[in-house]
Amino acid sequence: MPSPMQVIQAEVTKELNGFATIVVLGASGDLAKRKTYPALFKLFRNGFLPANTQIIGYARTKMSHDEYLQRVTQYIKVNEENHDDLDRFKAITSYHSGLYDDDMSWQSLNQCIDQSEKARHASHGQCNRIFYMALPSSVFIPVAQGIRKHVYSQNGLNRLIVEKPFGMDTESSNELGRALGALFSEEEIYRIDHYLGKEMVKNIMTLRFANVFFNHIWDRKSIDNVQITFKEPFGTEGRGGYFDDYGIIRDVMQNHLLQVLSLIAMERPISTEPEAIRDEKVKVLRCIPPIALKDALLGQYIGANGKPGYRDDVTLKDKQDSRTPTFAALTLWIQNERWEGVPFILKAGKALNEAKVEIRIQFRNVAGNLYKATSRNELVMRIQPDEAVYLKFNNKQPGLSYQTLQSDLDLSYHARFTDMAIPDAYESLILDVLRNDHANFVRDDELEAAWRIFTPILHRIDQDSNIPLSTYPYGSRGPAELDAFMKRYGYDRSSANYSWPRQSVAPQQSNNSNKL
Ligand code: BG6
Repeated sequence: MPSPMQVIQAEVTKELNGFATIVVLGASGDLAKRKTYPALFKLFRNGFLPANTQIIGYARTKMSHDEYLQRVTQYIKVNEENHDDLDRFKAITSYHSGLYDDDMSWQSLNQCIDQSEKARHASHGQCNRIFYMALPSSVFIPVAQGIRKHVYSQNGLNRLIVEKPFGMDTESSNELGRALGALFSEEEIYRIDHYLGKEMVKNIMTLRFANVFFNHIWDRKSIDNVQITFKEPFGTEGRGGYFDDYGIIRDVMQNHLLQVLSLIAMERPISTEPEAIRDEKVKVLRCIPPIALKDALLGQYIGANGKPGYRDDVTLKDKQDSRTPTFAALTLWIQNERWEGVPFILKAGKALNEAKVEIRIQFRNVAGNLYKATSRNELVMRIQPDEAVYLKFNNKQPGLSYQTLQSDLDLSYHARFTDMAIPDAYESLILDVLRNDHANFVRDDELEAAWRIFTPILHRIDQDSNIPLSTYPYGSRGPAELDAFMKRYGYDRSSANYSWPRQSVAPQQSNNSNKL
């Protein structure tokens, strides 16, 4: 019986015939060094890259081979034992500099790849080329054109990996889509949303569809409200210039949080085939009307406790009147049989009190409840940090008392899966590209459906300076209006005193004052 690792290795080998050239475009940039190369290294170390792989970095910066290696390996963590692996990895990487809008540069890159393929004795049909665009969106189209015209393999597979921002709204996204679609087929394009590579996000379908009990309570009859929360404890810290053009809604909500929502809300796909899954995700997105302004709470952080406010960011010197939201709570409604009337509240903010991404499903009150002081059941999926799934439920307090106390069924990954490492999202997604699995990538019609939900409110926010924008202090829970906003959608915070993970072994008291 082959091990799971051997199965993956065999899938990659079969798909790419043991041979690949991975071209990292934008190799001198931040994404490449922080995410792409460390992910490639881990795949290499685990034997998941095809046996005959060459990684070629491409960017405008002129640098020596040593400078390149130093730059792209600075975030790769190795210890004494796997230092040799790093040396072997360096031996399959090289750098080629060139422009992004220049035919000669692309021809020269093509020659460089041709030579490498010849030197590696690529045989017929083996010249598989994977292009990873770790680039600013302003050059997506010229780069895709240059590749298609001059670097596209005629003797093997081609794959193009591209990452957000996919435009600023429906129109610009469609324009980008049309331009890329004229050059590469949908089958060749992999649109990364790195949240789809996160372990707990990949677990949503398993949890929903491999457990008989969740299936029966997954609808408006049992669920009162759903929250998907993204909290970062730091501000833009020098990235304000970039962030200001996008804001928190485009940065993480229209993509990452909406992807999570679609997995929570979609119907059961007919199989686990990528297109079957993506069909269901698109269907549920199409049941969501554009977000109404009355369902939004927007905020921007101000300096507090020695930390700067958003507008204090050095890159925002010329934009002192910026009204870009760094916090938003948006309620979405799904108009279908399963979800009508259930609010899906997306909340995201920078410069908040903690780092946390989680899905919180709050169930309805028990009908005809016998016990007065119970709290609502909640199913929480902690995406990061410290992956966990826990279910909050009411229990009789052990002993002579009949009081209820709130407890939990807790699957904390670090405690339960002690011998397993959780892969980084990029590692998992690049592996999917190598195996030709599109399930965790965004399809063109999915992107269009996502923009349709967000474009009207984004345009209103961009154009109308009278739209309320609250402030909140750096390091706080968000705007002061947040609790009232949540209450409006039925969220019951009565168990807010309950904290998880539980720090002490002593049972936690419910808010029932009737103690023994
Ligand atoms: C990116 C956003 O897409 O996601 C960043 O542009 C954000 O602003 C980041 O910080 C969060 O990703 P992660 O994996 O750290 O949760």
